[in-house]
Amino acid sequence: MQNLGEAMTDIRPLVAGNWKMNGLKEALREAWAVAEGVAAKAPNADVMLCPPATMVAVMAEATAERLMIGGQDCHVAASGAHTGDISAEMLGDAGAAAIIVGHSERRADHGERSQDVAAKAVAVHRCGMTAIICVGETAGERAAGLTLKVIERQLAGSLPDGVTAANTVIAYEPVWAIGTGLTPTAGDVANVHAFIRGYVRSNTTDGDGMRLLYGGSVKAANAAELMAVANVNGALVGGASLKADDFLGIINVYV
Ligand code: 13P
Repeated sequence: MQNLGEAMTDIRPLVAGNWKMNGLKEALREAWAVAEGVAAKAPNADVMLCPPATMVAVMAEATAERLMIGGQDCHVAASGAHTGDISAEMLGDAGAAAIIVGHSERRADHGERSQDVAAKAVAVHRCGMTAIICVGETAGERAAGLTLKVIERQLAGSLPDGVTAANTVIAYEPVWAIGTGLTPTAGDVANVHAFIRGYVRSNTTDGDGMRLLYGGSVKAANAAELMAVANVNGALVGGASLKADDFLGIINVYV
């Protein structure tokens, strides 16, 4: 039977903001304000912002030591004739410590399959960076009772060999909860996260210590409840990470 218990190790939470295709230079002041807020309150969590690639270098310089900076996607190759693409090496060179791979918007908009996601995670690991690998079911899959099957299939396909708690974070983002204001119940999140914990415990060397994030309409108003769920080790935040006050309201759950 699936072991539904919480991981035994102490896991330092991660609150990561995914700016998606938002952010011009003037938005740097929001990142700066997040960094100031983090410095002031010293939350018991790592804090990351994943701006568009155009802002990775400047944001990394502006917030050095206070925030981790991440990319939102990468090519599998280190360099080459791939117009418009960006490699993990380039994002690392610009100051990123992590890269999101397999976000549902990439899977839907760019036809990325789990095997593509795994190859991208390999590229991230090759650079000594952390891969934030996203999984999540659609509304239709949930309605059909397929949630755990879909998550298992995505995990099996998207996690490459060599995944460890140090080089990988899993983000559970139900597609129907992204940008909709809808969230699963705490009980539903607990079930899926327990399932993911069981999966990484069985299929990686140190899955007990791996960070499992919840994402999808996380706001200051619901963050405390969602972050208190067993096996939830932080959040991947979209819309509410664009404004420093909103994002700090989530981060401060860990103060
Ligand atoms: P929202 O927080 O805007 O729902 O987005 C979640 C998300 O997709 C983060 O990667």
